[in-house]
Amino acid sequence: MRRTIDWADGAVVIIDQTALPGEYRLLELRTVGELVDAIKRLAVRGAPALGAAGALGVALAARLGGDVAADAELIAHARPTAVNLAWGARRALAKLDQGPDAVLAEARALLTEDEELNKTASAHAAEIVLAECPRRPLRLLSHCNAGHLATVGWGSALGVVWHLHERGLVEEVLVDETRPLLQGARLTAWELAQAGVPHRVQPDSAAAAAMARGMVDCVLVGADRIAANGDVANKIGTYGLALAARHHGVPFVVVAPSSTVDERLADGTGITIEERDARELTEYAGVPVAPPGTEVFNPAFDVTPFGLITAVVTERGRLAP
Ligand code: MRU
Repeated sequence: MRRTIDWADGAVVIIDQTALPGEYRLLELRTVGELVDAIKRLAVRGAPALGAAGALGVALAARLGGDVAADAELIAHARPTAVNLAWGARRALAKLDQGPDAVLAEARALLTEDEELNKTASAHAAEIVLAECPRRPLRLLSHCNAGHLATVGWGSALGVVWHLHERGLVEEVLVDETRPLLQGARLTAWELAQAGVPHRVQPDSAAAAAMARGMVDCVLVGADRIAANGDVANKIGTYGLALAARHHGVPFVVVAPSSTVDERLADGTGITIEERDARELTEYAGVPVAPPGTEVFNPAFDVTPFGLITAVVTERGRLAP
């Protein structure tokens, strides 16, 4: 599969994640405004892919000229929760005094690293899953999309599935559909189908029942920000999954590149949680599904305390708080 996000002919090129699974199309982003809009609309999404978007966005800004530092701020703040976005933008901006080519070279290096680090992190996590879960083959539960599409390539939590599937060790992946934007049903199920991994989509609200019925050997999720004490911000619903997993004695494993670790934050209470447009809940594909004027609570992420997590795994192995 091609990279989720890359640089070609003076533009940032992304796989448009709003169009999948119906249509596989590429978008060429030629201005900082287009890039920021693509991030806000989730045309490019997932913490590691956002890190790449941050860096390539600054490379684009540097090439176009203008107030690159102000553009970098705009990009870094397009979404607030995944720390990778600001990290990627900062890393590229640090090369600005060496000129636009140096900024682009740094962004390109970040892209290559992202693929490698996710592959390594998910290989470590696969070994931990095998050690924690005696049953073979494994029945895994995934939330949101932490696959190829959420990274430059390969994936974090879904990367574990690729490693285990290569060894014939996956019986099934239960895919949380991931309300309200359906990253699980639209993107994770698409990736699993492409790779020929047996899977079923379930409503998020079925996850605890699946664990109660003994259908899940391990929960695998990615992360948007990891605080110094190991608390993890990830897609809304992750905290509930961790509570259910603890109740049922199911291992709960978080996989992310270390660019997702925010050591400046002592714990998860300091993580800014993005709240999204009410229409994501009050409408479905443009059709109203709630009475006009209904108020909503629509956080895009939640924070899972480290105490509920079996292991937080990066390319360096299992993290200690
Ligand atoms: O709102 P999204 O789709 O950007 O949320 C993505 C997630 O929550 C992922 O689980 C996380 O970024 C990890 S992706 C490897």
